[in-house]
Amino acid sequence: MSSPHDVAVLVGSLRKESLNRKVANELIKLAPPSLKLHIVEIGDIPLFNQDWEMQAPQSVVDFKTAIRNAKGILFVTPEYNRSIPGVLKNAIDAASRPYGQSAWPGKPGAIVSASPSPMGGFGATHHLRQVLVSIGINAMAQPEVYIGQADKLFDEHGALNNDRTREFLQKFIDAFAQWIDRHVD
Ligand code: FNR
Repeated sequence: MSSPHDVAVLVGSLRKESLNRKVANELIKLAPPSLKLHIVEIGDIPLFNQDWEMQAPQSVVDFKTAIRNAKGILFVTPEYNRSIPGVLKNAIDAASRPYGQSAWPGKPGAIVSASPSPMGGFGATHHLRQVLVSIGINAMAQPEVYIGQADKLFDEHGALNNDRTREFLQKFIDAFAQWIDRHVD
């Protein structure tokens, strides 16, 4: 078998007990052998400043390298005020510049959102889809993943305690593996 495709997982929440990070960790466990998922941290990327076009901070250079090296990008994000958290948008903007040197174009991607609310971060997903069009990520359309009432899905060790959600996440990550296969050479 050829080596697994490297997938960068970006989590749109920085908090320690993040539900979205727990979902991301579950997806890492469920990923088929053709994928190697790993979280690329975005919390140490400074607030974007277009002056970086002269010289970007090292954390931004490293982040762009991690994105360039990835064969696919998985976004796992909360919804903040019906959109994506600023920390995630900041990371996306940072790796998209300077003009003509973006790390994103052409990569296959997918979005997962999780929230304690029954709507599961629907608004964040669709705002993010719009941004992904702009940076040239080929975002998988189906299955859509809005994980509602996510605060009820994990035990005290952070492990998923709901079989239906696990089955659904399995379907999603298998579909993403196929989506990546279709897009990489
Ligand atoms: C939220 N939350 C939230 N939830 C939601 O479903 N729709 C929303 O628009 C918002 N807005 C919002 C704004 C801000 C500033 C915060 C801090 C929170 C609640 C949010 O879904 C909840 O805190 C999640 O637990 C955040 O995700 P993590 O950190 O658990 O991954």
